[in-house]
Amino acid sequence: MKKPNVLVTRQVASEAIALLQEVAEVDVWTQDEPIPRQRLLEKAENADGILAMLTERIDEELLARAKRLQIVANMAVGYDNIDLPACKARGIHVTNTPDVLTEATADLAFALLMATGRRLIEANRFLMNGEWTAWSPSLMAGKNVYGATLGIIGMGRIGEAVARRAKGFGMKILYHNRSQKPQAEAETGAVRVSLEALLRESDFVVLLTPLTEETRLLMGDQQFSWMKPTSVFINVSRGGTVDEAALHWALSSGKIWAAGLDVFQQEPVPVDHPLLALPNVVALPHIGSATEQTRAEMAKLAAANIAAVLAGKGPLTAL
Ligand code: DGY
Repeated sequence: MKKPNVLVTRQVASEAIALLQEVAEVDVWTQDEPIPRQRLLEKAENADGILAMLTERIDEELLARAKRLQIVANMAVGYDNIDLPACKARGIHVTNTPDVLTEATADLAFALLMATGRRLIEANRFLMNGEWTAWSPSLMAGKNVYGATLGIIGMGRIGEAVARRAKGFGMKILYHNRSQKPQAEAETGAVRVSLEALLRESDFVVLLTPLTEETRLLMGDQQFSWMKPTSVFINVSRGGTVDEAALHWALSSGKIWAAGLDVFQQEPVPVDHPLLALPNVVALPHIGSATEQTRAEMAKLAAANIAAVLAGKGPLTAL
């Protein structure tokens, strides 16, 4: 019997490919660049399953051509690249990769918080540029992390993991979330507050909410104006949650002190983007979950979801 076809839109861990090859003919897009849209549309026509990255838009146009498609397994926890209702309407399973990336992403969020608060990138550039001519008491002086107040917007699995790290740094933890998180509160002492209270009181604000119609441009002029001039803003969610012009205004006018950004409205962010010209911005190329081990686990989980659906079983991590 002919095996089903699976399209994998980027080179991923060999264990994941091997798992898929047991049950399917596997077509892997091996180039470094994301698969061009036209090629994706063509290849989707033949696919029973797609192991997709966040760079692929799975929308009406694609689904209309992908008549055989049974599952889209996104290799990310976020899934704003997928038209979920359109998939559901066609009975196509959609899965993501929760849990396996929680700790790595929380590590990155905390690393970015520390790098921004303690000016690590700026200090490194200063030294490498040969500008370090003398030690001085104010040289690259940043903000205390230990004992500071941390505000977490979006207290999902990753938010809770960030809170656990913050507890080790003696931080007071506030959070803003639709639902209360009693276990996180008991474990870390986190307190649920309104968005305004969180922004007014926090020294560090970490944005971790998924991008939905509700959270699009969640952080705008008003929200940044509630923050303290000494505070640091960190975004590890999606670029679409932040009004970048408002953030630029907040940073350049001294309304907030600094920002650490792992995500942007347009990715890759153009190098001439105004935010990148500011000395108080630490910018990263969307590497929240980027450890070798975590990316392998994400690929294996996505592959396992496809294998399960093609075998007529339910997906493991359905959306
Ligand atoms: C996710 O999983 O949504 C991350 O942004 C990708 O690493």
